[in-house]
Amino acid sequence: MKNTPDSYFADTVIDWYQRHKRALPWRDTTDPYLIWLSEVILQQTRVAQGLPYYERFADTYPTVQDLAAAPEDEVLRLWQGLGYYSRARNMHYTAKQIVAEYGGAFPDRYDELLKLRGVGSYTAAAIASFAFREKVAVLDGNVFRVLARVFGLSDDIASPASRKVFQRLANELIPVDAPDTFNQAIMEFGAIQCTPIMPDCLFCPLQQSCFAFTHGLVQELPVKSKAKAARPRFMHYMVFELSGQYYLRKRLSGDIWEGLYDFYLYENDSKLLETDKLLKELNEAGIAVQESQLQLPQKDYKHVLSHQKITARFYLIRLNSRLREEVVQETRLALYDTVAIDALPKPILINSYLKDVKILLNL
Ligand code: ADE
Repeated sequence: MKNTPDSYFADTVIDWYQRHKRALPWRDTTDPYLIWLSEVILQQTRVAQGLPYYERFADTYPTVQDLAAAPEDEVLRLWQGLGYYSRARNMHYTAKQIVAEYGGAFPDRYDELLKLRGVGSYTAAAIASFAFREKVAVLDGNVFRVLARVFGLSDDIASPASRKVFQRLANELIPVDAPDTFNQAIMEFGAIQCTPIMPDCLFCPLQQSCFAFTHGLVQELPVKSKAKAARPRFMHYMVFELSGQYYLRKRLSGDIWEGLYDFYLYENDSKLLETDKLLKELNEAGIAVQESQLQLPQKDYKHVLSHQKITARFYLIRLNSRLREEVVQETRLALYDTVAIDALPKPILINSYLKDVKILLNL
């Protein structure tokens, strides 16, 4: 398709949208809080996976005031399983700021929205257009793909420099009288019709004007360079148990999973941790453990993040008495019963382990 300023592209995509759109709850509202909530959840998350989280958040915290007033542990626990936990922490921070500094009302312009923590150009454009009908185009993976194919753009969509090219084009295409519908429509078109693999070109209303289709380049576009290989990490978790209670600690900033709870962690560059070495490390840390108290890992737990590939093993250690006060101070570990553990926000591999060994029941 030639990059013409006429409205053929917008009209066609909007017409397609009216006939094919999914009924999704955040499309029935112009409340900027609910739109923001949905868009933060849907970043890096598919609609099918994000929908139950959206419903739980909207039920638990129907207003920005409710979210602002919630304890952080509770917010992170509700987020558990979605990953990218900084999104939840930023959202909580911003909710408190909206209440404290903006009188509980979201800013109603793109430029102002951008100033909020955790609100990038995508989220600001989504809120500004859906809630306030500002004419500013959203760019997400779906939009990149649709534009790259229809208009034959070969810029690498993984490169930040390409953003400008796509943003300029999208801002030319978005109609002033329906910026909200256009933004929803182009994302939905990418999600359902112009999918990454096996797009439905046969029944596509843009087929004859699509550059990629008419040039046989549908599989080649968009161009996206490969991400760097993820760094492997090996986590050896010491699960200290005392009379049916377990020691956990809240993770600090500076690493993944800030604010989530896990066990005493020994990390090295290997999947293996020899028992002698382990006992020696623990003894040096002031935790006297005999081999007879130790149950070795039963299996590997793997978790892939965007830049890290984690393998975790769990060593169950049955204590005879509480950890010493200096150790508790040093490690920030605290004893929790199983009901309390259930309520704590935890990385998914910790949760999987707890369920596998029936510390948490699979209810
Ligand atoms: N993904 C991100 N935002 C979305 C929205 N508003 N509707 C459907 N899918 C989305």
